[in-house]
Amino acid sequence: MSLRLGDIAPNFTAQTTVGEIDFYNYLGDGWGVLFSHPADYTPVCTTELGKTALLQEEFAKRNVKVLALSVDPLDKHKGWVNDINETQNVTVGFPIIADADKSIANTYGMIHPNASETFTVRSLFIIGPDKKVKLMITYPASTGRNFHEVLRVIDSLQLTANYSVATPADWKDGEDVIVVPAVSTEAALEKFPKGLNIVKPYLRYTPQPNK
Ligand code: BEZ
Repeated sequence: MSLRLGDIAPNFTAQTTVGEIDFYNYLGDGWGVLFSHPADYTPVCTTELGKTALLQEEFAKRNVKVLALSVDPLDKHKGWVNDINETQNVTVGFPIIADADKSIANTYGMIHPNASETFTVRSLFIIGPDKKVKLMITYPASTGRNFHEVLRVIDSLQLTANYSVATPADWKDGEDVIVVPAVSTEAALEKFPKGLNIVKPYLRYTPQPNK
């Protein structure tokens, strides 16, 4: 049975470009992003890992550790990192897991046999400090992911965790957020001193609480 939202993200140990890693130890009590790509030395993957490296500080600011994964072996990863650094003008500092026996890929459902029997698809998991899966996305090999969108989701998830608010469609950092239905209007008026915009009893906005 494949992983679903709210499930505990399974722990593992892995060989990576920065040494052997125990996943849970690596995450500590922070957030994690674990994402797979189909193969090393491929164009879209090169840009994805380059973009992730470029955004390393943004992930760190949010207390998020990032790990990439493919089923290629470690020596191949290490050679490819040089190419990513050179062509994308970055320094890849996050670990790339060499999952040659596909054990992690299989546990996380990153291999979709009708897309490819051998390679991982572009799966991405956001994992909370409670080690639960908060988001899963799956992209085809031909489409590079939007890592600004991944950061936007992390901002939304962290607002929910810290302030019991949700974020509307196309929300961007700094815009009004939504009071979740579980919070009564009476409680919301106390909790959100910046005030409420009550459009309907079930549609209540408040300014972003951490701004
Ligand atoms: C790529 O990263 O460019 C890629 C990988 C596998 C299939 C197609 C594209």
